[in-house]
Amino acid sequence: MHKKLRKTSVPLRGEIFVDPDKSISHRAVIFSALAKGEGIIKNFLLAADTLSSCNCIEQLGVHVEREGSLVKVSGNGLYGLKEPLTVLQCGNSGTTMRLLTGVLASQPFFSVLSGDNSLNRRPMRRVLAPLGAMGAEIRGRDNGNYPPLAVKGGKLKGINYQLPVASAQVKTAILLASLDADSETVIIEPEKSRDHTERMLSVMGADLEVADLQVILRPGKELIAQEFVVPGDISSAAFFIVAASIIAGSELLIRDVGINSTRTGIIKVLQSMGGKIKLENRREIAGEMIADILVSSSDLKGIEIRGDIIPQLIDELPVLAVAMAVAEGESIVRDAAELRVKETDRIAAVCLELSKMGVEITELEDGFIVKGNPGCLRGGRVGSWGDHRIAMSLAIAGIAAEGETDIANAETVDISFPNFWKVLSGLTESDL
Ligand code: S3P
Repeated sequence: MHKKLRKTSVPLRGEIFVDPDKSISHRAVIFSALAKGEGIIKNFLLAADTLSSCNCIEQLGVHVEREGSLVKVSGNGLYGLKEPLTVLQCGNSGTTMRLLTGVLASQPFFSVLSGDNSLNRRPMRRVLAPLGAMGAEIRGRDNGNYPPLAVKGGKLKGINYQLPVASAQVKTAILLASLDADSETVIIEPEKSRDHTERMLSVMGADLEVADLQVILRPGKELIAQEFVVPGDISSAAFFIVAASIIAGSELLIRDVGINSTRTGIIKVLQSMGGKIKLENRREIAGEMIADILVSSSDLKGIEIRGDIIPQLIDELPVLAVAMAVAEGESIVRDAAELRVKETDRIAAVCLELSKMGVEITELEDGFIVKGNPGCLRGGRVGSWGDHRIAMSLAIAGIAAEGETDIANAETVDISFPNFWKVLSGLTESDL
């Protein structure tokens, strides 16, 4: 599907909601499947990725009931999963595949996980190495680096593991595999990645201790089903935070967004660039902080970012590049090589597609340099590379650019934010 956009003739004003958090939705359904009792998930994200997790969980013998965004999971406990009859299809979802690999590593049966053409090219050794050290037997293409993965699960031993790169997916896979290991597991991250897993497993009764970059899990505790209320996804809100920041005259309130401090890098960096962003009505729901985000347009200045902040905004870097493009002065992003192994090579995709729209952007091995210029964006024919976050970033560039922008493969937004076009057209009064 092609999407054609024009520069918005109106500023972005009013109130919006964005779709529910993807990371928390995946975890809620997978963790509930391993718990005792009925897990209730309110405001579950109904998008392609999270539905992949639901489908796989059902194939593992767990009863999942859906009434719109209300999901009920009849947990079978840690030992209640069944050997799946066919391949577990994870679609485009790295979170589904990596988290389930952790779950299946300790189950006493055989299972196979596969994905689409993008997922089957994403690195899995990062999960297979620690799980292998715990005693799991998992095979994959290219000597265990790529899916499909074949898992022969069994009893595992605890591990003391230093993650080579900060990754919440890898951290979570190891923690899930550790729930019934024969000794404790210690994980140390180089930088802090999102901590939804630690919060949710603790609430469910796991014996988990977190100290800065270290997580310790002592096995042997059953998980107890809970009620989870999923907040709006800050990674989806990010597109509109940037849009309202760069379109003159905007004042936009984004309601009920998760503001977990391991996810708010985008807000901190935009504020440092001169962005006017306020968090209002802060409250805690089901162990996560939530707020309404008020964004007013502003003149942004270039910035250099690297190090610890990168994992806190890794998924937001493509849209942050759009903000950097129209900021005054140079911006530099470093230490973000992980972007190359996301749904697509996001460094290559952002640099090529934004350069088609008039942006002076140079690719680095681990990031990019943008020569910001407030008036630089012009429409062009661009492609999403089949990547939801690239499509949405280009759409935000499109409503700020002179002339027409044509985005190929725009349907990919359904992976994480199916209501994206509706929310965008509601604000720009155009018929997208
Ligand atoms: C996610 C972790 C991040 C992120 C992804 C979702 C998660 O990936 O990019 O979109 O839900 O745990 P990594 O674990 O590879 O950093």
